[in-house]
Amino acid sequence: MILVTGATGNVGGHVVSQLLDRGVAVRALTRDPAAAALPDGVEAVRGDLADPASLDAALDGVEAVFLLWPTLVADHAAAAAVERIAGRARRVVYVSARGVSDDLERAPGSILGSHAYLERLIRGTGVEWTFLRPGGFAVNTLLWAPEIRATGVVRRSHGAAGRALIHEQDIATVGVLALTEDGHAGAVYELTGPETLTQAEQVAAIGEAIGRPVRWEEVSPENTLRELVAGGMSAAMAEGIVAAHGAMVTSPETTTATFEKVTGVPATPFRQWAVDHAGDFR
Ligand SMILES: NC(=O)c1ccc[n+]([C@@H]2O[C@H](COP(=O)([O-])OP(=O)(O)OC[C@H]3O[C@@H](n4cnc5c(N)ncnc54)[C@H](OP(=O)(O)O)[C@@H]3O)[C@@H](O)[C@H]2O)c1
Repeated sequence: MILVTGATGNVGGHVVSQLLDRGVAVRALTRDPAAAALPDGVEAVRGDLADPASLDAALDGVEAVFLLWPTLVADHAAAAAVERIAGRARRVVYVSARGVSDDLERAPGSILGSHAYLERLIRGTGVEWTFLRPGGFAVNTLLWAPEIRATGVVRRSHGAAGRALIHEQDIATVGVLALTEDGHAGAVYELTGPETLTQAEQVAAIGEAIGRPVRWEEVSPENTLRELVAGGMSAAMAEGIVAAHGAMVTSPETTTATFEKVTGVPATPFRQWAVDHAGDFR
């Protein structure tokens, strides 16, 4: 039995379906089993990572855990939750993030610092662990979907920022191998997509996928910042994103070959991700 956390989300949903395809028994952790849209054959168990005692029922009889810690809640009872998980499961595969280093310190509001803290907690338990450190998710570009659906134009800053975005399905594929096969204990997998595309090129690829032109219109960073905050993002996160995109204009993200090394097949191109998500942009 494998427990999948984040099972109703982008990566965890693929982990669930790929484990089912392999004939593995899957239990899904969710805060609301009644609302969780999960495939037949998956046992949904209520639990909240912020409330460690609530995890016991989900951990009963579990051999391995796919652990996804929703961004920025690592301060809530993380140590107690990790201890409980490691006390029951033999193996943990944790979704961290590219840019995390072993000695990175926690800092208020720092996503990378939060992942580094979780990694240290897991290492400290003695459980058999594998860390996935993916770069930016292709699914982040769904943020553009309302504009693309309404106008066919994405008005943002830093269209020349180069990103090696990864398909959420590829993160799941590596996670499932680490959960179900031996030989991944103690591995840290830095995962990216197979190529670097500018944001303007990503928008054009979405247009090709949906069969109508979509274009990038460059606006000022201040304008993008205002839009992100108006859309509900915290000022700190919006500033972080805009600054990171600014840096990626002069220093585009690099790709890693890790996915292909681990799986034996190339990582999924952004163009294919756009085809898979065409319905979200139409
Ligand atoms: N986006 C990126 O570019 C990027 C890059 C690198 C790393 N990451 C990391 O990837 C993770 C996000 O992955 P994702 O996009 O697959 O997630 P997601 O789609 O946002 O899904 C979040 C999942 O977490 C669950 N969840 C939320 N709060 C919970 C709680 N308190 N207790 C238990 N479960 C809870 C939700 O389940 P229920 O609602 O059913 O409870 C849902 O399944 C984050 O840790 C992020 O830092 C993201």
